[in-house]
Amino acid sequence: MSIDLKSLRDEAIRAMTVTNTEEELENLRVEYFGKKGKLTNQLKALKDLTPDERARTGKEANELKAELENLLESRRRKVKEAYFNEIARKEHYDPTVIPGKFPQSYLPHTDAGHIHPISIMQQKLENIFTSMGFSIMDGPQVETDFFNFGALNFTDDHPAREMQDTFYTGDSHLLRTHTSAVQVRSMQKLRPPMRVVAPGRVFRYEEIDASHEHTFYQMEGMIIDREISTANLIHTMKTLLAGIFEKEVEVRLRPGYFPFVEPGFELDMQCSICGGKGCPVCKNSGWVEVLPCGLVHPNVLKAGGLDPTQWQGAAFGLGLNRLVMMHYAIEDIRHFQNLNTDFLFQF
Ligand code: DAH
Repeated sequence: MSIDLKSLRDEAIRAMTVTNTEEELENLRVEYFGKKGKLTNQLKALKDLTPDERARTGKEANELKAELENLLESRRRKVKEAYFNEIARKEHYDPTVIPGKFPQSYLPHTDAGHIHPISIMQQKLENIFTSMGFSIMDGPQVETDFFNFGALNFTDDHPAREMQDTFYTGDSHLLRTHTSAVQVRSMQKLRPPMRVVAPGRVFRYEEIDASHEHTFYQMEGMIIDREISTANLIHTMKTLLAGIFEKEVEVRLRPGYFPFVEPGFELDMQCSICGGKGCPVCKNSGWVEVLPCGLVHPNVLKAGGLDPTQWQGAAFGLGLNRLVMMHYAIEDIRHFQNLNTDFLFQF
């Protein structure tokens, strides 16, 4: 083969094997086989050669033309195949795969972000509460000792502080241990009568296991009006639970101690799995503990600047992680924060 044809061949093969689009392949076709193409020019130049040379070089040039055309065609087939494979990969759907157990590559919108199950529950609760006339309040996560403890009737040496150990920042601030810290902030900000809920992140110094986390979510609720009784509390809780579980639920109250309510209760709901007959979920009692609540202690009303002879209140604290775990039958609280997208994309 002549030196010209040889270098043309090398150059063309190199160019053709790195192309990835049909457009690039078409450009190469024109570059080599077009009217003024590199190989076309070589064929045209044959006429200037001696008959002998023309016969030999002509044969070589035609063989090279066939070789390069074949190469171009097989490359075009590969590019097309890769294009359709990519579409098939993106649109692949296997109805036999269990939802939530998708391998990462199956997920349809891995880059798009996703609403966390706690946020889903929070939004659902906010809708229920706003439909009952509640306002949504926010409070700082780095809180003062006053709002987190003092104003809520925890004296400095109160043993109940022990149950809510937390992280102190060293300047009488701490990471709030509960959203109850928003109670007195709300009283100071809004005038009664008022109904508020305060969702948010809270922290505890905890030994971590399947049911304990150092960081979790609560939603505090509080109603203040001239005459508030346990009946108002029960009614609000039953309306709330019916909204969450989408059916009427039976509840019962047991005494519970929290310094900021008097009386204080633990509210249980009838087990939705066995209908109250007794099963492993409710440990055969027929009841599941759902939330602590009570009537606001007069000292807390005073700390909020309200006259306890004029105003009364009811309050409750929802544990959002626990509610989500009950709702979706999640067995380990650590899933919420471990950034495992296989877990998160189930919701
Ligand atoms: N703040 C309490 C906790 O995190 C829960 C709580 C109990 C909130 C009774 C309330 C209540 O509003 O009335 O343990």
